[in-house]
Amino acid sequence: MSTYNEQAKPKVTTALLRKMKQNGEKIACITSYDYTMATIADAAGADFILVGDSASNVMMGNETTLPITLDEMITYAKGTVKGAKRAMVVVDMPFGTYQADPLTALHSAVRIMKETGASAVKMEGGEEIRESIEKVLCAGIPVCGHLGLTPQSVNKFGGYGVRAKEDAEAERLINDARMLEELGCFAVVLEKIPSGLAARVAKEVSIPVIGIGAGSDVDGQIIVIQDMLGMNKGFKPKFLRVYADMFEAMGNAVGQYVSDVKDVTFPNANEQY
Ligand code: KIV
Repeated sequence: MSTYNEQAKPKVTTALLRKMKQNGEKIACITSYDYTMATIADAAGADFILVGDSASNVMMGNETTLPITLDEMITYAKGTVKGAKRAMVVVDMPFGTYQADPLTALHSAVRIMKETGASAVKMEGGEEIRESIEKVLCAGIPVCGHLGLTPQSVNKFGGYGVRAKEDAEAERLINDARMLEELGCFAVVLEKIPSGLAARVAKEVSIPVIGIGAGSDVDGQIIVIQDMLGMNKGFKPKFLRVYADMFEAMGNAVGQYVSDVKDVTFPNANEQY
């Protein structure tokens, strides 16, 4: 396998991400929830690996991100951190672990940092969680914001449609992005919003803007690894590019193994002691 990391690039930090934005170098982000996927993403040159609460869907089979717990996120993050040698690992704070009050947010974020060795956390929301973000930042924990479609609020939105199409919501989103920058967040994810709005935010704030379903005029992109590998058959939103059919490839390999076991062609003489 040819690896982007063969060029011995420096370990990714919040400062490096900011420099990449300043230099116009796009930031490639991807999710991972385990050691093996993290080694693949890291060796392939991903700059930023997110242990997303999308683990609730793709790892646990839940319909939403709401049920996943802090303990479960910490387990997924521990394996991911071990596999990421160069990439920066950021961990989603799951639903209910930061919205209630700043102290709860701080305790949750401290657990993530202490128990996983990750470099930062991500929190969904703007003005409504300002105090929680401030408290976490005060402890020296880097925070990535997340605006637009924030899946933890799916019940409020009533679905996973495109956000901020109307002027009032777009204006609120711009103000929230400015607030995240002023508070000291190191980056912000913009999910499923009009590309023109995302481009405007990326121009107006100095912190990296990472898009998913937000067009190309932002500072980087993020994608769920199972989705781009074609492992998640039924999921085909407009913004998704599928780079492989791993459902088929892995299914064929497992099917061949099953058939080899049944007709006793595995193991052969060279595959035993
Ligand atoms: O949980 C997740 O994977 C995310 C990304 C889609 C941004 O938040």
